[in-house]
Amino acid sequence: MPVTVFAGTGYYVPDRVVTNEELTQYMDTSDEWIVERTGITERRWVSDGMSGAEMARRASVMALEAAEMRADEIDAIVLATLSPDHFFPGTGVFLQRELGLGTVPALDIRAQCSGFVYGLSVADAWIRSGQFRNVLLVGVEIQSTGIDVSTRGRDIAVLFGDGAGAAVLTATEDADRGVLSTRIHSDGRHAEVLWAEAASSRKNPRISKEDIEAGRHYPTMEGRDVFKHAVTRMPEAVLEVLSAHGLEPSDIDLLIPHQANLRISQMVQRRLGLPDEKVFNNIQSYGNTTAATIPIALAEAVRAGRLGRGDLLALVAFGSGFTWGASLIRW
Ligand code: COA
Repeated sequence: MPVTVFAGTGYYVPDRVVTNEELTQYMDTSDEWIVERTGITERRWVSDGMSGAEMARRASVMALEAAEMRADEIDAIVLATLSPDHFFPGTGVFLQRELGLGTVPALDIRAQCSGFVYGLSVADAWIRSGQFRNVLLVGVEIQSTGIDVSTRGRDIAVLFGDGAGAAVLTATEDADRGVLSTRIHSDGRHAEVLWAEAASSRKNPRISKEDIEAGRHYPTMEGRDVFKHAVTRMPEAVLEVLSAHGLEPSDIDLLIPHQANLRISQMVQRRLGLPDEKVFNNIQSYGNTTAATIPIALAEAVRAGRLGRGDLLALVAFGSGFTWGASLIRW
């Protein structure tokens, strides 16, 4: 049976750097508050009409180059985003068109911060079943056009950033490496803890002047509730994939946690008993780029030489839904 390996990774972040200092011009906040509570010092925001599809294309081209693969060798696209360029169709088909991929399928995944891990679960199943050989898996997010950058929205606005990450996944017959397991979960009882109420197809019209005045088109979040669940579910998910293979946290060579908040990552790290050198964080520079955080971090970790052949890599995510999951990969 084929096994899924990462043949290449890539990422793209917009040029515009938004520092904590810049945010103080729009809202009542401070560099000190943001750094202390979240670890973030700056993030990237799109400008000049940059689309999610275009960021995804740039990240994908980098991943294809790293994989030494032509775009026309891709058999399917899985694209995770909570901020599609349009309500429909999904961003995946725009990416498919821009890459000139003929008629290969493009599947959009709606699992928020867990989107990349959910997407990996799907792509890995396709590859292992022999349905597709080469799958392009992308996480892309434009948060900056959907957040309230006034003091009203400061708890969320300081956290999020824009970017895209991509991975080319391919089938191999090597028995000693590849994706070992991915486990995904959700708990919709918490759906409104972190969500955007409007626009909504439950209403006609889907968004009203009143919605906009009340800020219902901006995301809202019970930050403490999210924090509490994240620091429980993330270690739990890592232990779940490890135990499926009789492995321990100490077997992990590199953990890439979803970059929600540096304090969350540090708590997950502590709960798993991992030393600093075994955890990769880049939230300091990019904030939380939702579905894009894990593939951006993975692409950076690869380029920083943090992963060698045979290393045990763990990916773990938690986000709105709630959704969460983890994946274990022999690199
Ligand atoms: N700057 C300054 N003050 C801010 C602020 C900001 N950007 N955002 C909120 N505050 C204020 C609040 O208004 C509150 O003031 P009050 O005490 O006068 O009411 C105070 O800071 C404390 O707010 P609180 O929400 O209790 O802070 P916190 O310690 O929980 O930290 C988060 C807030 C958002 C950083 C934290 O809850 C968090 O990171 N949660 C997880 C969020 C997350 O990861 N989301 C994505 C999941 S994928």
